[in-house]
Amino acid sequence: MATPMRIFPKKCLKNTVHRLHRKPIISHKGISSNFCTSQNNRCFSSTTEFSECENRVFSGIQPTGIPHIGNYGGAIVNWLKLQNKYKEQMLLSIVDLHSITIPPQKQLRQNILDLTACLLACGIDPNKVILFQQSKVPYHTHLAWVLSCLCSVPKLQRLPQWKEKKAKVKDPSVGLMTYPILQAADIMLYKSTLVPVGEDQTHHIELTRDLSRAFNKEHGLIFPSCQMVPGEIAKIRSLRNPGSKMSKSEANPKSRIELLDSPEDVAEKIKKAVTDFTSEVTYDPDNRPGVSNLIEIHATMTDMCIEDIVEESFLRAEITSSYKSRLSDIINEKLSPIREKALEYQRNEEYLWDVLEVGAKKAMAIAELTMEEVKSCVGMS
Ligand code: TYM
Repeated sequence: MATPMRIFPKKCLKNTVHRLHRKPIISHKGISSNFCTSQNNRCFSSTTEFSECENRVFSGIQPTGIPHIGNYGGAIVNWLKLQNKYKEQMLLSIVDLHSITIPPQKQLRQNILDLTACLLACGIDPNKVILFQQSKVPYHTHLAWVLSCLCSVPKLQRLPQWKEKKAKVKDPSVGLMTYPILQAADIMLYKSTLVPVGEDQTHHIELTRDLSRAFNKEHGLIFPSCQMVPGEIAKIRSLRNPGSKMSKSEANPKSRIELLDSPEDVAEKIKKAVTDFTSEVTYDPDNRPGVSNLIEIHATMTDMCIEDIVEESFLRAEITSSYKSRLSDIINEKLSPIREKALEYQRNEEYLWDVLEVGAKKAMAIAELTMEEVKSCVGMS
């Protein structure tokens, strides 16, 4: 379990109903709903007078297709490290409700299975972390509604991802605009303190912090403040347009390498990756975003740091084209076993649904406790 922290008496700043609402620290399902506010080092337990604090980790990924190496480098690699430390205090959600904000989502069921297979193939261990499908825990949308009543429309409209996404669709849905509130609910429902995500999620994590502050102020202090846990590589860029991030929604499939791409496709995509007219392999993200992106991809696929990669390439007297060819081999070496395992998992649908079902039960047990508190604080029970 996470680092034990100081023990403080429970405090409920505002709502007396909440203070009376006591439950044993460990529920009948063996799950604690305690948390620690990591920023001010004060611990609050909604459940007992005194409690041990713990961190809880939450992250999510949309089932909108096979994950790409941006998802891998920006999030999955980080999850693999954190799962060993936080185990069942770590939740990973396949956020299907988020994935329908931009219709049509015709392959949703298959995408959920494929994503689950890919995560398991990457090494996510359902015996350690709680891996579950978001819509199987209905409290996500329940809490999102409560939070939406604390969030102004202009606040949502100022978010960069909303501006970017609404420009790409003809009639953006209400769901697309309120999506960040659902994301805040995902995190808060488990009183999560750590959120490992890529750089593109920064504003959503800030909104989550705003909403937990707003809830605590309005209804009673029950939510901790969460912190973003960035990966070592903050952002993998598009191979075709290094000015923007690698994304599943970019129309050109050559802009991204998906985890299940064939070795030939990987080689072709890397060969065609946009670089510049300088032939040396140097790292300079501002002036040479294309080649710097390749170096970052290299770092993601190996344990090497940027400096060592650049030096190695210098010692080999490589130019961009020969470096690209070697990089393709490195990527394929990393992805081949993932691809093989994913194909095996994909053949066993029943097992994949079982994994998600077990995860949903565990997630539900925590979510239930939080929602009971929320309803009590708001005055609904
Ligand atoms: P999603 O599905 O777009 O991406 C999943 C994770 O991959 C990271 N990522 C990247 N990292 C680096 N470079 C890239 N090019 C790149 N593309 C994607 C994302 O930062 C993310 O960590 N809104 C979220 C899903 C979500 C969520 C949550 C995350 C819903 N609720 C609660 C954390 C906590 C999203 O669309 O991720």
